[in-house]
Amino acid sequence: MDSADAPAAYHPPLPFTGPNLLAPMEGVTDPVFRDLVSALHAPRDLGGTFTEFVRVVGHALPVEKLAEALGARRPHVPVGLQLMANRLEPLEGSVAGAFEAGAPIVDLNFGCPAKGTLRGCAGAALLDDPPRVEALVTSAVRAADGRPVSAKIRAGGEDDRDLETLARAVEAGGAALLTVHCRTRREGYADTADWERLRRAVDAVSIPVCGNGGVDAHADLARVRAETGSAFAMIGRGALADPWIFSGHRADRGEAAGFLLEYFDRMRAAGCSAGQSAGRVKQLLRHWTAGALVAGTMEDPSSERRQILRIADPTALMDAVRECGARTTVAP
Ligand SMILES: Cc1cc2nc3c(=O)[nH]c(=O)nc-3n(C[C@H](O)[C@H](O)[C@H](O)COP(=O)(O)O)c2cc1C
Repeated sequence: MDSADAPAAYHPPLPFTGPNLLAPMEGVTDPVFRDLVSALHAPRDLGGTFTEFVRVVGHALPVEKLAEALGARRPHVPVGLQLMANRLEPLEGSVAGAFEAGAPIVDLNFGCPAKGTLRGCAGAALLDDPPRVEALVTSAVRAADGRPVSAKIRAGGEDDRDLETLARAVEAGGAALLTVHCRTRREGYADTADWERLRRAVDAVSIPVCGNGGVDAHADLARVRAETGSAFAMIGRGALADPWIFSGHRADRGEAAGFLLEYFDRMRAAGCSAGQSAGRVKQLLRHWTAGALVAGTMEDPSSERRQILRIADPTALMDAVRECGARTTVAP
């Protein structure tokens, strides 16, 4: 058949309720954090979230493990289940299991630059091997049996010269959505983010693209879509700084402290120790801007932020957060 006569590829509809998505973040976007952020937003402001990556190694993952990653969900907020794999067979079984567990979409991770991941030839290691990316997406799409699969890539490995090839590999595999984190593996989490690369990805494929990287403020959500043509915009660390970022609501100090206190309590209720829960709160405090709750930067060793982060005792930490929330003057 002449390619002009070939039927157009079928892409199942995406489950999202709006164009703004919360990025998958290991050690952050567990069910507790996702649920708290989701509760702050109307469906049009936060269109969907993703689990942290779930690693697929030797065998297909049990449905119970996949269901655990999804956690209890709010009816109006779709949660994509992200898998990281480099072998076809266990991936296929895990994709089928993810849908059985209730995921409305499965996302494949081709972006994690952690050393262990690279040694295991998964995540961002696969950016050097576009045919393998295509093979993995193809397998996942087959196992999805008409339900949507997406893939999240970086702009490249050592540089961005394969960006279009990678984007087309994802499309050729049958993905319904391509997310591009516009930094390369080499660039890691650098401050700079080149949105021109997002535009290049949009031009290279006909499936919808989700732009990610350097979308740091509420206004950037619309801006990245307007400037690059991406259909979706995804925020990672910006949501650690301000969980209200998707709606643009400016939380006051009380609301900001309330979020952190609630996060701590819900982590404890989910079975985490006080130390683990405090660790999660500290992870947010490193980035936190909402409500101008804590003053100063991470770079300044004498800043209020750094002093609070030095508090070892979980109860004392949460007392300090409560005090910051009750303060009426803005910290210097
Ligand atoms: C703590 C942390 C954990 C992350 N874990 C994942 C992950 O599990 N899967 C993934 O695809 N990307 C992961 N990422 C990358 C983010 O999804 C996102 O692509 C990246 O942070 C760039 O977006 P940003 O500039 O808005 O932060 C992680 C990033 C951070 C900071």
